[in-house]
Amino acid sequence: MATEQGLPFGEKYHPAIQKLMELRRESLENIEEFWDKRARALIWFKYWDKVLDDSNPPFYRWFVGGVTNITVNALDRWIETPVKNKVAYYWEGEPGDTRVLSYFELWREVNRFAKVLKDLGIKPDDRVVIYMPMIPELPIAMLAVARIGAIHSVVFSGFSPKALADRIVDAKAKLLITADGYYRRGKVINLKKNADEGVRLAEEQGVKVEKVLVVKRGGLNLDVNMVEGRDYWYDELVKDVPYNTYVPPEPRKSDDVLFILYSSGTTGKPKGIMHSVGGYMVWTYWSFKWTWDPRPDDVMWTAADIGWITGHTYIVYAPLMHGMTNVMYEGAPDYPQPDRVWEIAEKYRVTILYTSPTAIRLFRKYGDEWVKKHDLSSIRLLGTVGEPINPDVWKWYYEVVGGGRTPIVDTWWQTETGAAMIAPAPGIALVPLKPGSATFPLPGVDADVVNDKGEPTKPGEKGYLVIKKPWPGMLMGLWGDPQRYIRTYWQRFSKPDQGIWIYYPADYAVKDEDGYIWMLGRADEVLNVAGHRLGTTEIEDAILAHPAVAEAAVVGIPDPIKGEVPLAVVVLREGYKPSKQLEDEIKQTVRKVLSPIAVPSRILFVNKLPKTRSGKIMRRLIKAVATGAPLGDVSTLEDEASVEEIKRAWEEFK
Ligand code: WT7
Repeated sequence: MATEQGLPFGEKYHPAIQKLMELRRESLENIEEFWDKRARALIWFKYWDKVLDDSNPPFYRWFVGGVTNITVNALDRWIETPVKNKVAYYWEGEPGDTRVLSYFELWREVNRFAKVLKDLGIKPDDRVVIYMPMIPELPIAMLAVARIGAIHSVVFSGFSPKALADRIVDAKAKLLITADGYYRRGKVINLKKNADEGVRLAEEQGVKVEKVLVVKRGGLNLDVNMVEGRDYWYDELVKDVPYNTYVPPEPRKSDDVLFILYSSGTTGKPKGIMHSVGGYMVWTYWSFKWTWDPRPDDVMWTAADIGWITGHTYIVYAPLMHGMTNVMYEGAPDYPQPDRVWEIAEKYRVTILYTSPTAIRLFRKYGDEWVKKHDLSSIRLLGTVGEPINPDVWKWYYEVVGGGRTPIVDTWWQTETGAAMIAPAPGIALVPLKPGSATFPLPGVDADVVNDKGEPTKPGEKGYLVIKKPWPGMLMGLWGDPQRYIRTYWQRFSKPDQGIWIYYPADYAVKDEDGYIWMLGRADEVLNVAGHRLGTTEIEDAILAHPAVAEAAVVGIPDPIKGEVPLAVVVLREGYKPSKQLEDEIKQTVRKVLSPIAVPSRILFVNKLPKTRSGKIMRRLIKAVATGAPLGDVSTLEDEASVEEIKRAWEEFK
């Protein structure tokens, strides 16, 4: 029975579900009261005048008038407590070198880094792009930037110079923090070279980074080019900064920007997702608490890269706000052997392991023996995020990795939502799990599944996930593009004339008879490759960077490990002929221009793309051919021969 709050069902269920629903009802009935109480769990320099300012939707502002600095909650608050000497990070390099940082040491290093940043002239609200591998100086740099009130924008170290340049330009960054290099699959990657190229490309587009700060990975001895007057070794600047340096945390307004993180959308230009100082802090703190039920002796390992939101929230901000010990690993999860992850988990007695379905599918492929060689009895919770998890893979994770003892915490969320939104909540009450379902929305999350018209779907009926009320961790907007923010997330289902604002994440979902939510993948032209979001246009643009290419269309096709991989259909320019060599060259271009993740699994050469009469590429027909699905309505197709051609090319490839 639906209640007035739109909660999907009544009280006839399991006591844990009832408990969760009770708290959720409370959170949605009186949003401001609920969050007012909870935000006080954190330290503020000044409390807010208003919990939620909804006077200008969809530009919601949280804890307005409040003043704080997230690093006080992540670090300073522990310095007068026993957590001071607790391990904050166990760091493990790919070659096996290690570092350990206590909370006290981390706090000290953040202060020293902050001093270096101030001396370089970084001021509150300046944008600092961080392009670094998984070394301890990455979280240190982020926290230092946040401490002095500047805005960080982390760019995944696997991204190309061009992707880096686009982000520097959009954010108009003043400083770039990078490293000499890092290890990946036994190879040394010269990151500084990519950084230099990124800075050069940004300059071509009119944005000149003033300074580049270069951290040494340690043990690399890379030959690095340093530009006089622009590039500085962090080592050399920090060596004169005393260990007892204290940089006061900059008081930040709750609705100031804490960070920008770029994510792919349906157009070629990445979206600068902005998170707020206060809202993100409160939401990630509570979402974490509900999802992981943190305990003092926990060792959390979020096996993700800090370059993505998962790392921001679950390796840096939220676990530090809970005084937790974390594992941080530099390299590939299956290097040098398929059991590297299990070896690390065993070594540090990890209690919470959080990874992606893609990684789990890969480990499953390697076989159970690799897991069984290790004592994983310390693990008490296993998490997954990034894509829908197939029930079979869920069961394997549960039985083989968890030994049938540990709940699987499947967390649905997005870069935009800050932290987990739909997830089993052992920190409240553990609801009965169903393999493949992220279960229920957390308190504060008014999620529902609706049809095309925005009406709630019946159980079993596929629809779109929507969120009907604001929550503290929601994005503040898109950097420099308020219209795109409205268009992308709010246009689809909101009714502004009636004062109804509904957030649209662009995911398909279905609710079952018991009210459990099952996520079914993206509903827009965004691919989810190994848990990473890539826009079709973004990949097409990269393909078009090759001089032989006249036109390109990209679709996602199912892949047993990565979930989805890009398939490209390409029309060549006059004078070029299809060949294996050309295919490889184009792939190489995508690798260079965008990222290795974006490289198409296959390129089909055709003379014509399937288009509507008005000239729009009909990507869904390509997808239908490749997956053997029915073509559906082809009445708007300009030339049927174009589909026949793709069919032929696809058959040849198969
Ligand atoms: C998209 C967001 C959130 C951090 C990692 C990805 C998909 C995420 C799940 C899940 C099914 C999921 C959605 C979402 N997704 N978690 N548990 N079950 N799908 O962040 O790059 O912002 O991508 O990942 O499609 O919209 P992101």
